[in-house]
Amino acid sequence: MSTNKNITIKSEQDIAAMRIAGRLTSEVLDYLVPFIKPGITTNEIDKLAHDYMVNVQNAIPAPLNYTAGGDVPYPKSICTSVNHQVCHGIPSDKVLKNGDIVNVDVTVIKDGWHGDSSRMFLVGECSIAAKRLCQITYEAMWKGIQQVKPGARLGDIGAAIQKFAEGHSYSVVREFCGHGIGQGFHEEPQVLHYGKAGTGLELQAGMVFTIEPMINAGKKDIKEGSEKDGWSIVTKDRSLSAQWEHTIVVTPTGYEVLTVSNGTPAVPAFIGIRAV
Ligand code: MF3
Ligand code: CO
Ligand code: CO
Repeated sequence: MSTNKNITIKSEQDIAAMRIAGRLTSEVLDYLVPFIKPGITTNEIDKLAHDYMVNVQNAIPAPLNYTAGGDVPYPKSICTSVNHQVCHGIPSDKVLKNGDIVNVDVTVIKDGWHGDSSRMFLVGECSIAAKRLCQITYEAMWKGIQQVKPGARLGDIGAAIQKFAEGHSYSVVREFCGHGIGQGFHEEPQVLHYGKAGTGLELQAGMVFTIEPMINAGKKDIKEGSEKDGWSIVTKDRSLSAQWEHTIVVTPTGYEVLTVSNGTPAVPAFIGIRAV
């Protein structure tokens, strides 16, 4: 592993280790699928995920006691953000009900390496508006991923996501971004989900980072959740918010998604078939 301006370039060996952490991360999400039904609490989802990571995968849930530079250690093993919650929702006794949408965000540490991925789950039967927001946000993440190759710039990723989301009359949350990842949970660089093509850091093979756009059905503004728990974030206008996240490595020819497993949702049609 080599370092340049605080951005670590991962070696083939590092990437092999991150492939394992990434697969385990995605497998936690796969494992949760059948449980996320009306009536389950987000605490129950947290316990299922925690026990799976610790007991089945012999892995560490990175969020548990994580401080992110702030002073409030995160109290749970995953994040569960429901409806107008944008991100960092703390699992609680809240019961999921028919029609809710929930983002489950999982970060696994395996042999010292992190994998970070989140998906949206539809709880029971959801409205057309809720399903559309989840689908467009998924496609927005992939519009960003599609930009990744050596020589492209970080601004290309943000611009592609912003153009696509705003083209569907949604808005992009500004305050949170993707991030470098490796032996650290949140490394350099910051990966914004908005911006100007052709600007920002030039990508180079061996960089590993997340792309994790938060897209609101209404306005982009957010505020701290009324829970005052120091973590959860909601939309200011209480509109629905969705998010998807993958961990990506820049390869000599483009990108490879590290957070993949048997249950990974299919890529959008616009990605097409690529030579790997
Ligand atoms: N998994 C989140 C991310 O994608 C970070 C959660 S930090 C926590 O970056 F402490 F809330 F878990
Ligand atoms: Co992340
Ligand atoms: Co995450």
